[in-house]
Order: sequence, then structure tokens, then C-alpha cells
Amino acid sequence: MSFAVYPGSFDPFTLGHKDILLRSSKIFDKVIVAIGENHSKNNLFTVEERINDINNEINDIGIENNASVESFSGLIVDFARSKNANILIKGVRGPVDYDYELQMAGMNSTMNPDIETIFLISRPEFSYISSSLVKQIAFMRGDYSNFVSQIIQDSIKQKI
Ligand code: PNS
Repeated sequence: MSFAVYPGSFDPFTLGHKDILLRSSKIFDKVIVAIGENHSKNNLFTVEERINDINNEINDIGIENNASVESFSGLIVDFARSKNANILIKGVRGPVDYDYELQMAGMNSTMNPDIETIFLISRPEFSYISSSLVKQIAFMRGDYSNFVSQIIQDSIKQKI
């Protein structure tokens, strides 16, 4: 069985995240979406709200048999080890993501050489989507319906 962890902030979970999750679920036997509890970030959604939304996304895709969602605090390599997962999945939209992810992959692999980071390149139609910009558009009363699913649109409407 191949266990993979897909970590991120997912505030909110975008169509780009959803596509990476769907593609990962076809490659690995089990994918755990891992929400990093980063208290320094100014999040729109609580961890519990994000877990609820991502669970709804998992059900919407129909991959509840091989995907789940949890939160974690501390190091992602420790969380992965605690789940017997040796693969980290990262979506890469372009060179800026790649530079940052390369650093993290290198340091994670030095801390735990058993863990491999696998990069999935974003599909072109999702490569420009960012959670931060979705929030900015929402706060400015713009139309963000091309960037997040109906599930997330409904959640944003309850907040803003
Ligand atoms: O969606 P994001 O904000 O890029 O997600 C970043 C996240 C949560 C994946 C990353 O910050 C992370 O792995 N945090 C856990 C702490 C950790 O392991 N830090 C060392 C990384 S080398």
C-alpha cells in the first residue's frame, strides 16, 4: 500500500488543490490531506471549517475510500511518519512555487531520508489560482466562482 500526505494551508481549498487531490488519489492507495496549523497566518477559515469543507470535496469527487483529511501541528515529516506515509505530494504552479518547494523538499529529506516529495505540476487552467488572491477578491466583492468549487463558495459567503 502506498500512503501519501498532501500538506498545505488550504485556506481556502481551491480548484487547483482539488485537481491535485484527484490526480494523487489515482496514483496512491491512500492520500491524507494534511492541514498545517500555522497560527502565524491570518486565516479566513478555522481548521475545523477547512476539515469540514475538504471532507465535502472528497465526497464530491467520490474518493472517500482512499482519501481523508486531518490537521497537524509541528513538522510535516513527523506527521507523515506517524501515519506510516513516506510520500509528500506538492502541487507546483510555476517557478516561484518550485523554488520554495525545492528548499522544503531538501530540508524534509535531510530530516527524514525515507520521505520522498513528489511534485505534481498544476494543470495550466489552475496554475494561476492562489488561495490568498481568492480571499482578496472575496473581500473586495469580486467574482471568485472560477477559482473555487460551489462548496467553498458557499463557505466563503458565510464568512464575507
Ligand atoms: O499551503 P502552504 O501554506 O504552502 O502550506 C505550507 C505547509 C503547511 C505545507 C508547510 O508550511 C509545512 O509543511 N509546515 C509544517 C512545518 C514544517 O514541517 N516545516 C519545515 C518544512 S522544511
